Amino acid sequence: YGLWLGVKPASGERSASYKKQLSALLFPVTNEMDSIAKQELLSALNGLIGHTPKQVDAIQEEGTILIGTPSTLPHLAREAVAAHLPLMGTEGYGIYSITVLEKPATVILANTTNGILYGTYAFIGLLQRNEDISSLAITSQPKVELRLLNHWDNLDRTVERGYAGFSLWDWHRLPGYRDPRYTDYARANASIGINGTVLNNVNANALMLTTAYLEKAAALADVFRPYGIRVYLSARFSAPVELGGLENADPLNPAVQRWWADKVAEIYGHIPDFGGFLVKANSEGQPGPQNYGRSHADGANLLADVLKPHGGVVMWRAFVYEDTEPEDRAKQAYNEFKPLGGTFRDNVIIQVKNGPIDFQPREPFHPLFGAMPRSQLMTEFQITQEYLGFATHLVYLGTLFSETLQADTYADGPGSTVARIVDGSLNGQAITAIAGVANTGTAINWTGHPFAQANWYAYGRLAWDPDLDAAGIAEEWLRLTFGNDASFINALLPIMMRSRETTVNYMTPLGLHHLMGWDHHFGPGPWIRDKPRADWTSVYYHNASKDGIGFDRTATGSNALSQYSSEVRALFENPQTCPDEYLLWFHHLPWDFRMKSDETLWEALCRHYYNGVEEVAAMQTVWEAQRGKVNDTIFREVTDLLAMQHKEAKLWRDACVLYFQQFSDMPIPEGLEPPE
Ligand code: GCU
Repeated sequence: YGLWLGVKPASGERSASYKKQLSALLFPVTNEMDSIAKQELLSALNGLIGHTPKQVDAIQEEGTILIGTPSTLPHLAREAVAAHLPLMGTEGYGIYSITVLEKPATVILANTTNGILYGTYAFIGLLQRNEDISSLAITSQPKVELRLLNHWDNLDRTVERGYAGFSLWDWHRLPGYRDPRYTDYARANASIGINGTVLNNVNANALMLTTAYLEKAAALADVFRPYGIRVYLSARFSAPVELGGLENADPLNPAVQRWWADKVAEIYGHIPDFGGFLVKANSEGQPGPQNYGRSHADGANLLADVLKPHGGVVMWRAFVYEDTEPEDRAKQAYNEFKPLGGTFRDNVIIQVKNGPIDFQPREPFHPLFGAMPRSQLMTEFQITQEYLGFATHLVYLGTLFSETLQADTYADGPGSTVARIVDGSLNGQAITAIAGVANTGTAINWTGHPFAQANWYAYGRLAWDPDLDAAGIAEEWLRLTFGNDASFINALLPIMMRSRETTVNYMTPLGLHHLMGWDHHFGPGPWIRDKPRADWTSVYYHNASKDGIGFDRTATGSNALSQYSSEVRALFENPQTCPDEYLLWFHHLPWDFRMKSDETLWEALCRHYYNGVEEVAAMQTVWEAQRGKVNDTIFREVTDLLAMQHKEAKLWRDACVLYFQQFSDMPIPEGLEPPE
């Protein structure tokens, strides 16, 4: 369970060439981070080729690998590759095959130690994948500055929406005992470029900000620091009342401002490189500035002002889901935040979920992307599979993340993708950031489902470069995790790539959403009604009746579509041009509506549900053929989990098809076996 960092011996041919190409190492170590990078490389080489290179302080022979910055290896500054340094920024790196003193060599070059660490992990990845390293010319720099995991971990070690055991943070034994797993966690994150972690749940407990817990957080920060990872905390907005005994937490109250300034100074006393706060305010019962008649901007700016002198940031969430029932839940964040555009401090970033409802198997991109060009926005993905079968279903999320990132908002003409908002290039945003709700826990394999590791990996890779290709990432992960057997990769890659669509098919096809069981969000529950609020039910979202199904978000309905740019609106508002994927998200249509495929809507709905189940069966067949190619324990675990997934996919299909059939009053299309 070494995640994607496990090293297997290189193939015979590669092993021989690697031995020649990597016979000596010139790596001046100046700090702890360098020494981690060096150790990583040496132990990887030992596993790959059963030998470690001779350590030298000058080039003597061919096959030397040089690792350093212009200050640790000054002579590299004279080499042609030094011209790439400006493209590496403060965290990027370059890996090049060059000739030094007429001898072929490999160079890992960066401006900083962080770049060296990332470059070394990238180089190890190439070796793990048995790539040819004879003519390397790689320059890479992260497109997003703050690449974070958000842990929804509680102080009692339960994890909200966590399906991989308990929290990794052993609060009870911290700060005295530092579990080696903290180091493994830091390593895994650093290897994919994650450079920040929010330790505690957004539904925050104020106790996190007490001195006792800050000391514990500081111990974690000490472990993570040499891996380039900064610690952030979720702050409970009412902490000045709960911890400080103040009368209120009104952001305009000078006593409240003083309390936060003192608290932040205390935090920096414990954690000098503390990253900042993540805040969920006035959402799902959490306290916030609106409790005092103030705006989200007032709340965010209060914290931004006290963090600013220390270099910290505020990530203020736009997931607002309040007590008062909105006219259409999908519209609420836009309605509250759009008018505040341009009023946030320059160290505030608005953290927006990928879609306007809540991490559904499929959602259109969030309309706030492109709507607040004068404020800084980041996106929040959910790596943990709250609405995607928990850690039981095999669902590769690289495709989901990419789908959002590549969605075109048309905010500034064609090509205004969400990725370009997140990476800051569209609006010249100064601080760029991205967050993923972690799927890690104490489970031996970290993530519950062995394939859920791929989602952690894919998130990190896309945080580094939101334009990377989801298939390329999946292939990398397969190779790093399972080795380079082409027949295995060729069999599993299509399954991973299809798996999210498969899940959409058996859960919420054609733009349906929020059909899952009450509160736990696992199995089907399209019949959920009679809750205290209409938008806590499923019937609110699918709106099925004799006359049809779907949520009308056009001008004849909630008009949520008006929150998108005219180009997006034009595409979605006409059911004839609206992509099938979003059809029932935006439209309420009769059961006999003619689809682009010429089927009726009812037939298409059934076909998607049935396809979903068949695709899981096909996954089982392909997996079964891999017996012997993967470790037995993992083979059996995935086999059993796929069987569970198949059973649950059928349950979803049968429950939804039978439920909706009451309204469509139409037969199960020919050729499909009737539901059980
Ligand atoms: C979802 C999830 C909650 C979580 C919330 C959030 O609604 O079910 O558990 O707190 O998202 O993102 O704040």
